[in-house]
Amino acid sequence: MEKKLTVAILAAGKGKRMSSALPKVLHPILGRPMLFYVIEAVRYLSPRRLFVVVGTGEEEVRKEFADFPLTFVTQKEQLGTAHALSILSSYLEDEEGELMVVNGDTPLLRGETLSAMLSFHRKEKNKATVLTTVLEDPTGYGRIIRNDGGGFSHIVEERDATPEERRIKEVNAGVYIFSLPHPFTVIPEIKRDNEQGEYYLPDALPLLKKRGEKIGLFPAPDPKETLGVNNRIELSAATRILRERILTELALSGATIIDPLSTFIEPGVIVEPDAIIHPFVVIRGRSRIGRGSEIHPFTYLVDTVTAEEVTIYPNTVIMGAEIGRAAKIGPFSRIRPETKIGERVKIGNFVEVKNSEIREGSKASHLSYLGDSTVGPGVNVGAGTITCNYDGVSKHPTIIGPEAFIGSNTALVAPIKIGAGSYIGAGSTITHDVPENALAIGRAKQVIIKDWALKRRKKKD
Ligand code: UD1
Ligand code: CA
Repeated sequence: MEKKLTVAILAAGKGKRMSSALPKVLHPILGRPMLFYVIEAVRYLSPRRLFVVVGTGEEEVRKEFADFPLTFVTQKEQLGTAHALSILSSYLEDEEGELMVVNGDTPLLRGETLSAMLSFHRKEKNKATVLTTVLEDPTGYGRIIRNDGGGFSHIVEERDATPEERRIKEVNAGVYIFSLPHPFTVIPEIKRDNEQGEYYLPDALPLLKKRGEKIGLFPAPDPKETLGVNNRIELSAATRILRERILTELALSGATIIDPLSTFIEPGVIVEPDAIIHPFVVIRGRSRIGRGSEIHPFTYLVDTVTAEEVTIYPNTVIMGAEIGRAAKIGPFSRIRPETKIGERVKIGNFVEVKNSEIREGSKASHLSYLGDSTVGPGVNVGAGTITCNYDGVSKHPTIIGPEAFIGSNTALVAPIKIGAGSYIGAGSTITHDVPENALAIGRAKQVIIKDWALKRRKKKD
């Protein structure tokens, strides 16, 4: 829809206040870099072109977003936000329409707000519009200075403000819309005679005003949206706000989140209606929790897809797995990548499963390792069963056929096949394939020596 809109995200700054080797805009918020959220918000407007001004750590930033439809532009020296924008002047010389400039460190902005701001800018026929907000604690932000008539005068940075100006709670949120080519006509006039010795983009506004151009202020509907992340306190504040936003949406769509204060669910995770998420649960990545599933406390799920009515008991870790309908996992289970757990399967405490398919109705209830295996359906894996899948060089598969019964404390030395319906005696070390319906026992025969203990004690006397 926005054929005339160009967007520039400023992301070249040092982020000194983060005290970090990682470029500020790459610091993650619920699993995704801060800049990701800004890009998502502006993409809501479908701009014809999206520029990102990079500088500090630019290789890392370019690499992280290599698959995004972005045009990166380098600001070699970071001389301020106006200087950052000036880098784009050669790209935008002949452009018409609007240029929206967004700071790369405001990850909570909503696309809807930016869209309303653009409509306002067009309706009012402004030459520049600034997103503003009113904060209880405006520390660190540029303050909006109004003239006697209440209209916009200029913006003063915290460091350059008088004590009186610092009391102003109306601040610059760091989003601007300019009608082109206006910003580039005044940027050369911006001076760096401020406390930081930088070229400030907000200084473009009074210069445009002096030329008689119309400047507008657009108040953000929610002050939480405009949080700028400059340090790690603000990083965790942004995480908290985003988390609340995600959990609220999930709750409104029918999931029970028992304790939002201790639940971490990353953006993009799907939790279907009537799922119950207990306290102290973390769900990350491309996960989906099926209708009516229940995730008990202290569980960590990454890229995990559960069907309906699945129960995950406490202290379970699952990464990269698919869990079938009505399966029960945990407590204290670990399911590793490339695992498919079938319907009504039971995986109990201290059971680790890796790169395996555990088919319908099979059970491994206690203390086992199933790696590179295909199990079931209907198999019972006794306590302490281990698939010995690694010979020190390569990994080998184990196949356990339908309805087989593996006695406790069995070592299955892979590669190996256990036939359908067969039994393995407890304590066996199985090194050869077992045919269907057979019994295999691979352990030393028990020996009884009568009165051995009595004789031994006698010797001692
Ligand atoms: C800026 C605004 C301030 C506003 C606040 C909102 C200026 C001078 N001040 O302050 O009025 O209230 O944002 O959050 O603009 N950047 C570059 N190149 C540079 C300098 C900065 O690309 O040379 C980028 C940074 O990476 C960052 C953004 O511009 O993403 C804003 O810079 P930052 O230093 O965080 O500005 P603030 O002090 O927060
Ligand atoms: Ca900032």
